[in-house]
Amino acid sequence: MAGIVKTAVSILRAPGNAIAFRLRSRLRWSKGVAALPHEDKGERLGWLTCEGHARAQDLEARFDLAALRQRSSRLVFAENLALLDSLSRLLEGTVLPVSEDGVLRAVDVGSGVFQYATALQRYLAGSGTTRLRRVVLRGIEVDGHGIYRDGHSRSDHARAHAALAGDDVHFQVGDFTAVRLPEQDLVTMWFPFVTRYSLLQWGLPLSLFAPRELFQRAAQIVRPGGLLVVASQTEIEALAVERLVQELPFTHVTSASLATDLVPYGERTLGRLGAVYRRN
Ligand SMILES: C[S@@+](CC[C@H](N)C(=O)[O-])C[C@H]1O[C@@H](n2cnc3c(N)ncnc32)[C@H](O)[C@@H]1O
Repeated sequence: MAGIVKTAVSILRAPGNAIAFRLRSRLRWSKGVAALPHEDKGERLGWLTCEGHARAQDLEARFDLAALRQRSSRLVFAENLALLDSLSRLLEGTVLPVSEDGVLRAVDVGSGVFQYATALQRYLAGSGTTRLRRVVLRGIEVDGHGIYRDGHSRSDHARAHAALAGDDVHFQVGDFTAVRLPEQDLVTMWFPFVTRYSLLQWGLPLSLFAPRELFQRAAQIVRPGGLLVVASQTEIEALAVERLVQELPFTHVTSASLATDLVPYGERTLGRLGAVYRRN
């Protein structure tokens, strides 16, 4: 009942969202690639427990985060650590699908500002191997032209995060259900919209609510044997994802909690769940 009321109230936002989205998409504002800040990380991020600090240090040593440490806010640095922590837990024991040429091609769908590009690249390059593999990673975001307080667009920031992550990391503004893409070894979706409520709260128009099409497109571009990795904010969203994927040629591999204490808002991550599916 509460869910229905919340959705009904959020529907009031739909017309405003539609107008604002159309305006920013037409304007396509850019001030050039944003400069990434350096914020001192100190000896230990203030919100970490001793155990969390040890885990953060271990992740930093395993995955090369030196460049990120120099060019990130504390929050972005922590969010990268949290993503590495989550992926390590979720994909433990799962062999990453690398193409015959030794390259892993991956797309991240709905990347937002792509602040976790470094963590995603480092995990895909280094997991399960002592010799780093080449990773070609592309972040795709349909709402890339929103303007931030510093006058840069989301795309300006996302391209900076992609550039920091590596030469083979790219960011593209586009609708994942419509952009042309070559076959991929792996697709990640970090919090896709599977409820109208979360999409409207985020500021998108209802016309972009197309979860079935999102997962159908993933099934089209992931090669047989490739992986789809999905993170959900809540159990309800995870169940909606599960139902959508069941209709498609994927087999469930594993699921895990993605709760993390490595970010200062750890309590808000308690319901997060991740799931991995293999393309048949
Ligand atoms: C909840 S946000 C998650 C952002 C990011 N993955 C993160 O974890 O910070 C979902 C994102 O998906 C984007 N999105 C929704 N539909 C999309 C589509 N069809 N193609 C590309 N991006 C889409 C939204 O604009 C939004 O930025």
